[in-house]
Amino acid sequence: MGAPELDLSAWWMPFTANRQFKASPRILARAAGMHYFAPDGRRLLDGAAGLWCVNAGHGRTEIADAVHRALTELDYAPPFQMGHPLAFEAAEALRQILPDGFANIFFVNSGSEAADTALKIARAYHRARGEPERVWLVGRERGYHGVNFGGMSVGGIPNNREAFGPLLAEVDHLRHTHDLARNAFSRGQPDHGAEFADDLLRVIERRGGDRIAAVIVEPMAGSTGVLPPPKGYLERLRQICDDHGILLIFDEVITGFGRLGAPFAAQRFDVTPDILTMAKGLTNGAVPMGAVAVRGAVHDALMHGPEGAIELFHGYTYSGHPAASAALIATLGIYRREQLFDRARELEPYWQDAVHSLRQEATVVDVRDIGLVAAVELAPAGGRPGARGYDILCRAFAEGLLVRVTGDTIALSPPLIISNAEIDELVDKLRTAIAASSRELS
Ligand SMILES: Cc1ncc(COP(=O)(O)O)c(C=O)c1O
Repeated sequence: MGAPELDLSAWWMPFTANRQFKASPRILARAAGMHYFAPDGRRLLDGAAGLWCVNAGHGRTEIADAVHRALTELDYAPPFQMGHPLAFEAAEALRQILPDGFANIFFVNSGSEAADTALKIARAYHRARGEPERVWLVGRERGYHGVNFGGMSVGGIPNNREAFGPLLAEVDHLRHTHDLARNAFSRGQPDHGAEFADDLLRVIERRGGDRIAAVIVEPMAGSTGVLPPPKGYLERLRQICDDHGILLIFDEVITGFGRLGAPFAAQRFDVTPDILTMAKGLTNGAVPMGAVAVRGAVHDALMHGPEGAIELFHGYTYSGHPAASAALIATLGIYRREQLFDRARELEPYWQDAVHSLRQEATVVDVRDIGLVAAVELAPAGGRPGARGYDILCRAFAEGLLVRVTGDTIALSPPLIISNAEIDELVDKLRTAIAASSRELS
């Protein structure tokens, strides 16, 4: 599977069972279009868009050329008290596809930085408006907002928090929306669960609505295993936030850039947050970059104080880096020219039928989908949660398919350029892997 001459010892790999991986590595050496290639040339269909990010498919030379041009012209410019044209152009290009009312964009380098930046902006906003006691931050069980201390605190995946001691204290969590008993095998948004949003009222009662700065949710929870929002849920959350002056943050790191058949989930669900975070598909995964978009009122509330005063003491050395800005502009150009967001929407019915055909396999307990995302949840193998998921990841890899696994849930999110024939191939390969696992792993 791997390249035997490669010394694997030095790189401490993220979110990876390092000892297991290094004993039996899976190496990706090259990529083009819908495929990765192993060092021996074996082709793998990319069922995960890398890690939810390569929405326009691999090897887009327009992006590589734009980055090369940018770095040749200006390798780096400090973003503190200095500017360069590409970062301003990138922000403007991005603003064009955001929901109405989003006026300003803060650049960062990852989804994790975007989450922490959004939480800091939310607190700073309330403070600037004369409500400094609004410091509580509300996340959701099973939520994922990256790995930095803010995002980890509002995140709700226990394994991600366990080893790291005390997190932010002023944090509460809403209950998650997964409800297998009522919603298993839903197509698109599940029918049941709008009332889970009322859990925010419980938090408001406990902490006081006037002490809560923001609620942060993924409009569709991705990393925990794809949980589309129940019908009416996001609308209700928006209403409760409005009633209590609480900012609503959508973490669109996965759902942005066409994944749900619209530029952002906010447009797909017609629910507009106050702050929206993004990364991944922002540059088609080619250059690390994240961004936080805010409604004009959030930005403007901070644009007070003496001229010459820094309005937000926050930023990164690489905020709006020339290479990332160029990649962003080129990526948005591809999405626009190839109308990939519309394409995702058009593919959705075919995709939905294809993935739901997996329901017949023995160990499958749920299939869920929305846009060009799906998850297949499997019954754990005899008292070992996660073992079946990992078994299927390996079997799929051997079949020539890359998927993403969380516990015993297989997540699928192919590049938006996928064809119907490739959807069939993806589902067939996964079916083979699931069937073998169902037979052989008990
Ligand atoms: C919703 C969400 N937020 C934040 C992140 C963190 O992004 P990064 O890994 O770029 O820090 C992710 C990554 O998967 C994500 O899915």
